[in-house]
Amino acid sequence: MSQYHIKNLEEYFQVYRKSVQHPELFWEEIAEENFVWRKKWDNVLSWDFSKPELKWFEGAKLNITENCLDRHLHVRGDKTAILFEPNDPNEEPEHITYKELHERVCEMANVLKDQGIQKGDRVCIYLPMIPELAISVLACARIGAIHSVVFAGFSAAALATRINDSDCKIVITSDGSFRGNKTIDLKGIVDKALESCSCVETVLVAKRINSEIVMKKGRDFWLAPLLEAAYKDCNAEIMNAEDPLFILYTSGSTGMPKGMVHTTAGYMVYSAYTFKNVFQYSENDVYWCTADIGWITGHSYIVYGPLANGATTVMFEGVPNYPDWGRFWEIVEKHKINQFYTAPTAIRALAKENLSFVEKYDLSSLKVLGTVGEPINEEAWHWYNDNIGKKKSPIVDTWWQTETGGIMISPIPFSTPTIPTFATLPLPGIQPCLMDENGDEITGNQTNGRLCVKFPWPSMARTIWGNHQRYKETYFSTFKDKYFTGDGALRDATGYYRITGRVDDVIIVSGHNLGTAPIEDAINEHPAVAESAIVGFPHEVKGNALYGYVILKEAGEGRDQDNLSKEINQLITERIGPIAKLDKIQFTSGLPKTRSGKIMRRILRKIAGKDTSNLGDTSTLLNPDVVQEIMENAL
Ligand code: WTA
Repeated sequence: MSQYHIKNLEEYFQVYRKSVQHPELFWEEIAEENFVWRKKWDNVLSWDFSKPELKWFEGAKLNITENCLDRHLHVRGDKTAILFEPNDPNEEPEHITYKELHERVCEMANVLKDQGIQKGDRVCIYLPMIPELAISVLACARIGAIHSVVFAGFSAAALATRINDSDCKIVITSDGSFRGNKTIDLKGIVDKALESCSCVETVLVAKRINSEIVMKKGRDFWLAPLLEAAYKDCNAEIMNAEDPLFILYTSGSTGMPKGMVHTTAGYMVYSAYTFKNVFQYSENDVYWCTADIGWITGHSYIVYGPLANGATTVMFEGVPNYPDWGRFWEIVEKHKINQFYTAPTAIRALAKENLSFVEKYDLSSLKVLGTVGEPINEEAWHWYNDNIGKKKSPIVDTWWQTETGGIMISPIPFSTPTIPTFATLPLPGIQPCLMDENGDEITGNQTNGRLCVKFPWPSMARTIWGNHQRYKETYFSTFKDKYFTGDGALRDATGYYRITGRVDDVIIVSGHNLGTAPIEDAINEHPAVAESAIVGFPHEVKGNALYGYVILKEAGEGRDQDNLSKEINQLITERIGPIAKLDKIQFTSGLPKTRSGKIMRRILRKIAGKDTSNLGDTSTLLNPDVVQEIMENAL
């Protein structure tokens, strides 16, 4: 990354200017200088946001694992690629070198091939944060299979929906997972999911917790013996630049989760370039991102971005409060972590605990701190800056999305002066803009609007799996010729961006995106429920928590409301997962609706957030009286 590795603010502006004036040249130079290609591209970029169609590095041939693994073998073969820190602090960490990782990825790739997996086939990966997860991801990429990692906290029903949507042939899972002092029966969840997935022929099972599980004959196989028997070498499938690399599901405001499709060359170039600049990684650093590989942050900034840079990337299996709230800092000290990347919700949870959990440990190795996933509040930012960074380590508040593939707006440490709660400036190549409600771009500073991007960048998702029309409608139809993010933002007098939050019906709870519609659908399945509406309300640790307004059918009236609430949360857990449970449930006789029958969520949101001073004009509602009732009974 020499040429565009930014070292100070002046350089940032120079590089940024070039990236906007000559985007194709800019990305071409980065692609040329930093990666190995089997064949170079014929054309850097062709695009049309109205279709939408995007092609980066068309004509190029490559395999991303040759960039993440093979090319490092002779320069840093014995360097740790993945440093695995187990859930139990007394279990030895595992240092997997580039050489070993290469071998293990090849073995896994050969196992997949033996099971008949070919280029373009979809592979569902439902694994905890153990090395097999990263290895499976890379093994798919090695043979050109499309991985679809499903976060191992999703329920059987949610897993089945995702498996069926992309027609996965195979599932890679484990007997179970460790989470603090608990174990979770992952294989049981897979078995249940597969009752409704006829597309799956094979299940490969890693052994992690040594539990008694049922193996279905002819379908389920233990991974270890297959890996042991497999060759340690596997030729990389030569991929076209625009061949799909993976599908990753994200919640929409309505309907099914969206299977965002990322393709090979552009994703590789962008995730690697941004990793290098945003974390200012240098060769002997140890980098740790606490996300799960089940989310985009883990894909781009635990696996692909760091490995493409030859970095040492930590994979942590456990949770921040096991065995106690000092665990993160114990790991920072133990592995001398240099870059630490986490979510605001984790920071808020840690900040609530006694400072002695932090003070016990030597954090002097830290150079750069990062946050991602939701807006960080000022208090959490200062706690992080004062107690973890000791006011010496810049905080990069990185704004981006599953759909963007990589970080879009972020300070560059040691270059961009930071201001709490501001993601600051766009990275090179990124052209954000703010739009008003009439669809016009708002120019000038000290303003706010809907955040869009007006020019393509290499790691944009190319489509929604099986539903290009939805891709177009969701991201390219609200504003003509712009990619619409779904977020609101303000731009201050100096041009810094501050993300204010979602402007659609997606609610971010503890950093997880949740669509309201699928949760409402789950609630409405309850036989006693007639109708429901979900809104978010501010929560000290989670950022937002969920508040449900529920109208009961006659059958439900007079029933014990605590029991009903429990049953509703149980249903949500089964349909989606425990992350979508409601914090508060208010039973009501009606919901405020417009005359056309649309639920006025704005009013419900204000009541849930205890901000009823300005509810606006409610007289035009179909049923204005219900607002009073809801306010009186608010929780
Ligand atoms: C939100 C996570 C404020 C935003 C990489 C976005 C943020 C959604 C930030 C995407 C940030 C992410 N400040 N909000 N630094 N980073 N968000 O797809 O609403 O899980 O649209 O990707 O998280 O979440 P996703």
